[in-house]
Amino acid sequence: MRTDTGKPVHLKDYRVPDYLIGKVDLDVKLHLSATRVQARLAFRPNPNGRRNAPLVLDGDGLTATKIVLDGEVLDLQNSASWNGFATSDAFTLNAPPQRPFDLEIETEIDPSANTQLMGLYRSGSVYCTQCEAEGFRRITYFLDRPDVLSVYTVRLEAESSEAPLLLSNGNKVASGKIDGTSRHFAIWHDPYPKPCYLFALVGSNLGSIFSDFTTRSGRKVLLGIHVEHGKEPQAAYAMDALKRAMAWDERVYGREYDLDVFNIVAVSDFNMGAMENKGLNIFNDKYVLASPETATDTDYAHVEAVIAHEYFHNWTGNRITCRDWFQLCLKEGLTVFRDHAFSADMRSAPVRRIADVRALRAQQFAEDAGPLAHNVRPETYREINNFYTSTIYEKGAEIIRMLKVLIGDDSFRKGMDLYFDRYDGKAATIEDFISCFAEISRRDLTQFSLWYNQAGTPILKVTASYDEVAKTFTLDFSQSCKPTPNQEKKEPFVIPIALGLVVPGVGDIALRAGGNDGASQAEISSGVIEFTSTQRRITFCDVARRPIPSLLRGFSAPVRLDYAAGEADLMTLIKHDSDGFNRWQAAQTYATRMLQRSVACIRAGDLPRYDADFTAALLSIIEQTTDPAFTAQAITLPSEADIAREIGEDVDPDAIHLAREALRQDFGREIKEALLSAYTRLSEIGPYSPDAVSAGRRALRNAALDLLAAGDRLEGVCLATRQFEDAETMTDKFAALCVLAQIPGTEREKALDSFYGAYQGEALVIDKWFALQATIPERGTLNRVKALMKHKAFSYSNPNRLRALAGSFAAANPTQFNADDGSGYDFIAGIVLDLDPKNPQLAARLLSAFKSWRMLEPRRKALAESALRHVAGAGALSADVKDIAERSLP
Ligand code: BES
Ligand code: ZN
Repeated sequence: MRTDTGKPVHLKDYRVPDYLIGKVDLDVKLHLSATRVQARLAFRPNPNGRRNAPLVLDGDGLTATKIVLDGEVLDLQNSASWNGFATSDAFTLNAPPQRPFDLEIETEIDPSANTQLMGLYRSGSVYCTQCEAEGFRRITYFLDRPDVLSVYTVRLEAESSEAPLLLSNGNKVASGKIDGTSRHFAIWHDPYPKPCYLFALVGSNLGSIFSDFTTRSGRKVLLGIHVEHGKEPQAAYAMDALKRAMAWDERVYGREYDLDVFNIVAVSDFNMGAMENKGLNIFNDKYVLASPETATDTDYAHVEAVIAHEYFHNWTGNRITCRDWFQLCLKEGLTVFRDHAFSADMRSAPVRRIADVRALRAQQFAEDAGPLAHNVRPETYREINNFYTSTIYEKGAEIIRMLKVLIGDDSFRKGMDLYFDRYDGKAATIEDFISCFAEISRRDLTQFSLWYNQAGTPILKVTASYDEVAKTFTLDFSQSCKPTPNQEKKEPFVIPIALGLVVPGVGDIALRAGGNDGASQAEISSGVIEFTSTQRRITFCDVARRPIPSLLRGFSAPVRLDYAAGEADLMTLIKHDSDGFNRWQAAQTYATRMLQRSVACIRAGDLPRYDADFTAALLSIIEQTTDPAFTAQAITLPSEADIAREIGEDVDPDAIHLAREALRQDFGREIKEALLSAYTRLSEIGPYSPDAVSAGRRALRNAALDLLAAGDRLEGVCLATRQFEDAETMTDKFAALCVLAQIPGTEREKALDSFYGAYQGEALVIDKWFALQATIPERGTLNRVKALMKHKAFSYSNPNRLRALAGSFAAANPTQFNADDGSGYDFIAGIVLDLDPKNPQLAARLLSAFKSWRMLEPRRKALAESALRHVAGAGALSADVKDIAERSLP
């Protein structure tokens, strides 16, 4: 564990490396506790670097057994003899040769003892690696930075029986038995220069499925997916998704795959979702395995998205990589943008957009509003692992989406082509990326780039007025952004506002420029207003009747819209907006307002009241349903976290829960007949298919069941029990179990027991079982979770399991994590401290569940602060946890 938090890293201190490594030859002899790594590194001075600079290689917990400099063995006991140092975290040559030279480094590492899951480690019986961001230095001493690109040749050796499958990056060039032993070897060569974070190796005994893909130019690529023996059929969907992703990148971006093989290995112990190592993606098995009996429709959608995401990195991340880790969004934001577009093409675009925006608001808006807010391109970090955040990822993707809206599809594609041409094989920056689009579109994108350099979610305030006599309609826009850590004042952002004017009974009316407001007819008719200052007025003319503005269509910018739409107007938009996203948004806005009012009622000791118009509007959506997936989203109320964020301060999670439950009950009762009829109408026919249309039907049916149960517990238990018993798919089975889990009683415990019994051999299903129980919004849940931590199936060392239980409790159980006696905070703080010495990355992620503590009401706020102080004050913290704890505190 690195406990060194001494040195923050600053973007402004970036310097090119003084030495480069052209070639890397690795020889790895796999062994459970003593794996021998011989690295031969071909150095040369960087002509752009400093002459005579010392050579400092990074290491993390290393012991060198031998180091040879240009054929001369260094006496490691006597470093004075070679003018340098070798410690566990660095190898230094004070006066390296100022010409090309070779360094051979031999290290011995213990993969079985590696609980951080960074570097070379064991997951079950699999040897695997994870090197991003700084894990390669746990394998050998190296210039562990993304702007040092090398060509790798890797020789792997292992016991044939223990690891019949030996994989690394690139193409396999040789393999065979080692005579007179029970061992074998394989040699892999990757012709594409890459940074060490993209290095990977796997040694395992796994089951494989193979297929192939012929690229547009006729190259035949062998595709392999390797999973636990017996799970091969569960990899078929991932294989299908991979081929669709490969074809999509050719069709949409003209980008082909560039090696003879592409391998994916699924492991069960993984800190993240998946990793894009060149030609050898390593996945958390939860994003590979899927079968109707074990995976829900949502799981299938995740598999598809993550497979595509990691594949897309081959161009956006691997062929063009990041100059330094401050540029992380260069690859991650762009690749999320690409995987969102892929999923939108594979499924219903508005439904995908709704899901993406829900996630953006839940994660990123929350982060931006709290103490962990940071720029999409940060300027400083203490621990880079803590910057794989929704700001870098999701807001990073939104910026690119805005760019595309602003310059148009055609220029966007040309800009991407220019970027690929110009930076292929290089390590690039955000400026490099943006300059391609500035050049193609002949626009100055300086102000636009503020999105990368200013944290916080802008607030877009809009007021409207209609002049009945002049037949003009005026919109006044203003923008502001609250201070974020170390950024008091913000310059105005470039906000693309997609909009339409809706007239009841008519629909969208033609937009005509009208005033002396600087808006050209071209800008107005494009339907996208560019808002770049603090205030802007736009007047539309020839508006015969008062229209209803539909603002920020498709969520054209990641801002908070502050517009006091009348309730009747929202109702019209719910029914008639031509923009699917804004139909959904209107329903959410309406519901959020009602919920905010009832939270206030509850806190004042009154009973909440709901309004019948809203129910009627949603009823009409259900009845006219043409797209069940959309309807399922429309009838799902804003989450408790959404409501909390909207309230913004003095938040009482219990009052929010009560208000939301009361609305659900009311709603479930009022539209019971429609829900029942949808439930019956949508009952499954034919064999399971994971496609979006069938999944949409199941989504609506299960959303209906959920509301039915809220409105009528008895009936709900009865329907859910029947569905639970009869379900043939995990989607339906788990949806029924979720409904039952909300209702205390013997039915619930019986169902939970039977579920466990039926799936105890399926780790990913058991994760769901743990997660569901951790999110029950009841007082007894903390004790249930504590008991589950003693369950034989619980394990601290499996990240998926820990996230399922502790992670879900902290992130998805607002009333119990925020229990008003502080028990939830203390519990999570305790786990963070226990976990930290074993897996600091995971511990730090768990601790970031405290990211919204400052908006709580005073009592909870004080309790959360004291739990954070307890963590921050503990001795020997990892850099990861210390960083999150300190940034979270005032
Ligand atoms: N490069 C990341 C994986 C990663 C992140 C490795 C942080 C090491 C540290 C990968 O491309 C990624 O972004 N994975 C996501 C899933 C993706 C679909 C957004 C993940 O792992 O959560
Ligand atoms: Zn990624």
